[in-house]
Amino acid sequence: MRKIFLAICLAVCTLLTGCADDGGQKNTVQLLFPDPNSGIWKYIGELCAQLLREANYEVELHHCTNAATQIEQIKEAVEKNPAAIVIGAQDTGALGEALALAKENGIPVIAYDRLIMHTDAISYYASFDNTSVGEFQARYVEEKLNLKSGAGPFTIEFIAGSADDTNAPLFFNGAYDYLKPYIDKGQLVVVSGQQDFRTVATDGWKPENAQRRMTEILQKYYSGGKSLNVVVAANDDLAGALIQAQQSVGYSGAPTILTGQDAGANGIANIKSGKQSMTIYKDPEVLCGKIVRMVKAVVEGSQPAINDVTNIKNDVMTVPSYLCIPMIIDSTNVNIVKKF
Ligand code: BGC
Repeated sequence: MRKIFLAICLAVCTLLTGCADDGGQKNTVQLLFPDPNSGIWKYIGELCAQLLREANYEVELHHCTNAATQIEQIKEAVEKNPAAIVIGAQDTGALGEALALAKENGIPVIAYDRLIMHTDAISYYASFDNTSVGEFQARYVEEKLNLKSGAGPFTIEFIAGSADDTNAPLFFNGAYDYLKPYIDKGQLVVVSGQQDFRTVATDGWKPENAQRRMTEILQKYYSGGKSLNVVVAANDDLAGALIQAQQSVGYSGAPTILTGQDAGANGIANIKSGKQSMTIYKDPEVLCGKIVRMVKAVVEGSQPAINDVTNIKNDVMTVPSYLCIPMIIDSTNVNIVKKF
């Protein structure tokens, strides 16, 4: 009699709580994304959540503005035992220990856009080819300035992203390595001399940090009518920082070429008004689509589309990845980007 009573209690409890056998969120995806004020992460978070919901997953979306908060969010997510955790890392080097907890608890982790280091807990990684992003910026400079025909000299400065983001050196090296032969030949001249990643990096991708550095550079190296011809800014926020810096010193000569990335609202507006030359469009719908497929794969044990099984290595594992191809946007095709 007592056994029957216990069995009934258990059945009722299961019905009431909806927890099948292990108390987990079996159909829930925990979406943990970085600073919503940076790049277009807020838009991406909402879009990914929407696409996952359309694929019949419950979604909990959390952004953070520092690594410590994201580590706490990972620990809280692990306690809820979701079907998968998708992470756009705030600091790609700081999540290893927290992700070990996910692995111990058998929760699959998928890395979004930024490769996460020091961990063997990642099932899949989806991103754009980040070296290509920088290279596309550089090719644009090369073409618009006729560098192949020997034109120059032109002055150039670099504004890179944050050193705690694995993408930032890839963007920078993609652009710098492509332009280096022109720097060596004297067709491009880095007047400030600042041309290694650490020196041109922007802490936290924060425009105010880039604006400070560029204001100093403009005052020190470009006063007295010297023109700044090219600025390779890693994303639209940092291109905006250059525009602000120029305004703050009353520098009127806009650079001939100012690059960006994200095709965000400000970048698109600056391209339309002629203040920014180009941006790199990394269609979030394409990337979120890949993520939905990867989530399905880890939940159902199926095989998602993967196009790189050898090259994407953090310092612990080779991560099965899908890298999408980005696209150049300038005033000639800016209307392709419909969302802003
Ligand atoms: C992303 C960029 C973004 C930047 C700043 C990078 O990891 O790939 O799209 O602009 O972070 O948020």
